[in-house]
Amino acid sequence: MTMSMIEMKKTLKQLRLSGALATLETRLLEAQSSNLSAVEVLSDLLQDELDRRHTRLLDKCHQRSGLPERASLAEFDWSYNPQIPKRTCFELNTLKFIAEGQNAILVGKSGTGKSHVAKAIAYSAVRSGMHVAYVEADELLGNLAIASTEPLRKKKLLKPLVDADLLVLDDLFLRRRIATESADELQAILHRRYSLRRSCIITTNRVIDDWSKCLGDAALTTAILDRLLHRSVPVEFRGRSYRLKESSSRLVNTEESA
Ligand SMILES: Nc1ncnc2c1ncn2[C@@H]1O[C@H](COP(=O)(O)OP(=O)(O)O)[C@@H](O)[C@H]1O
Ligand SMILES: [Mg+2]
Repeated sequence: MTMSMIEMKKTLKQLRLSGALATLETRLLEAQSSNLSAVEVLSDLLQDELDRRHTRLLDKCHQRSGLPERASLAEFDWSYNPQIPKRTCFELNTLKFIAEGQNAILVGKSGTGKSHVAKAIAYSAVRSGMHVAYVEADELLGNLAIASTEPLRKKKLLKPLVDADLLVLDDLFLRRRIATESADELQAILHRRYSLRRSCIITTNRVIDDWSKCLGDAALTTAILDRLLHRSVPVEFRGRSYRLKESSSRLVNTEESA
């Protein structure tokens, strides 16, 4: 028995084929007006379902990653700070470093685009189906200090950070000093990831020579640096703050409209 449109929609809903359900009417209309064969209509509908599932999965992975936005290298203005090693950034964006278990350390002054590039690479990893964990380092270190005395809470916090194919620690050492408990936990995470050959991206505006001041313990600093630097790509961000450019162009616009 041939189904009516309402019945077909109800069935697609029951079968949880929401992609095909969303496009059913359009595809049937198109089939009538363009004289499409049954095979063509069915193949379009199946593709719509696949597309919707892919988008949903991507949304879920993006949400789970903690990435605040969907950055990309396409909108990065390489001419603003030409000293930034563009080739290295694109090389990192191929994600080969993740397969090789390498780390990337993006060091440079504030506003030069370190976080932007790190987020772009992380989003490329999400798009390619990898499990990504993005955290702002200060927030993580604060949470680690709180969780350090609560084993269950600590386990819950640490698991995704150790399991992720790529961990992004954004703006490490924004605060000058890190609490000892947090530094110990950070060391443990990095040690675990190192032994599993899992990659990290770290962005920081402190040169590596200053890290011991922030960590406040020479042995701990050596332990962290050993793990991070052993297989790592250093990327130096030299140049002017893009934030200044943005605020000065806002100023010009305001003056022009006044
Ligand atoms: N070269 C660039 N082209 C386009 N936008 C940029 C560039 N550099 C920085 N930005 C933008 O300026 C802002 C600050 O950059 P951000 O990546 O947070 O800097 P950092 O992490 O080095 O302090 C962000 O909105 C970022 O997208
Ligand atoms: Mg930053």
